[in-house]
Amino acid sequence: MAVVVFAQQKGGSGKTTLAAHLAAAWRQAGMTVGLVDVDPQRSLSRWAELRRDGGVSLYSSKDWRAGSDIRDAAKGCDRVVVDCPGAAESLLRTALRASNLVVLPCQPTQLDAWATGAMLEMCAKEKARARVVLNRVPARGGTLEEAERLLAESGAELMQARLGNRVAFSNAFLTGRSAGEMQPRSIAAAEAKALEQEVEALLG
Ligand SMILES: Nc1ncnc2c1ncn2[C@@H]1O[C@H](COP(=O)(O)OP(=O)(O)O)[C@@H](O)[C@H]1O
Ligand SMILES: [Mg+2]
Repeated sequence: MAVVVFAQQKGGSGKTTLAAHLAAAWRQAGMTVGLVDVDPQRSLSRWAELRRDGGVSLYSSKDWRAGSDIRDAAKGCDRVVVDCPGAAESLLRTALRASNLVVLPCQPTQLDAWATGAMLEMCAKEKARARVVLNRVPARGGTLEEAERLLAESGAELMQARLGNRVAFSNAFLTGRSAGEMQPRSIAAAEAKALEQEVEALLG
C-alpha cells in the first residue's frame, strides 16, 4: 500500500494527466489502484469512468471526506493516487499528510517554478516527501534552464523522469487509456513508464 499525491497550485501543470498515466502504468504492472479525485472538476473521475477497469476503484471525494476516502482506498488497493485541485488549502493539507510521496508536476517556465516553490513550502510544513517532475518539456531551449535554476533555488528535488509535450498524453482523456496502453512503443509511453519506475523506487 502506498499513497502518491499529485499537487500543484498552478492549474494546467499536468496533475491529472500524470495521475492517470501513473495509475495506468501500475495497472499494467498488475497492481490494483485506488483513485481519489478530490478536484471538483472531476477530470480523473471521468477518465476512470471511460476506462471501465475492474482493477481501478474510484473515490470521487467531497472535501470533508478526503482523509477517510484516502484511508479507505489505501486499505483496499495496492496503490493509491490522489489528484488535487489547484487551490484548496485545507484539502491539500489533508492529502499531503496522508501521502507517502507527493509529486509536483511543473512546466518549465518561471511562473510554474514560482508556484512550485510555494507548494514545496507547504509540503515541508506537513512533513510530506515531495519531488518535482518537469512536464511538457520542450526538446530544447525556451525557459527550461531558467526554470531548473529557480527550482534548484527553492530546494526542489527534481525527478529524473520528465515528460515532453505530446499529443499521446492528452489523448488519454478521450479513451480512458494511457499513452502506454494505446501506443506502447511511443516516446510518451517510455516517459510514463520511467515516471512509474522512479516513483516505485522512491516508495521503496
Ligand atoms: N505532457 C503533456 N503533453 C501534452 N499535453 C499535456 C501534457 N500534460 C498535460 N497536458 C494537457 O494540458 C492540459 C492540462 O493538464 P492537466 O493534467 O489537466 O493539468 P492539471 O490537472 O494540473 O490542471 C490538459 O489538456 C492535458 O491534456
Ligand atoms: Mg487536474
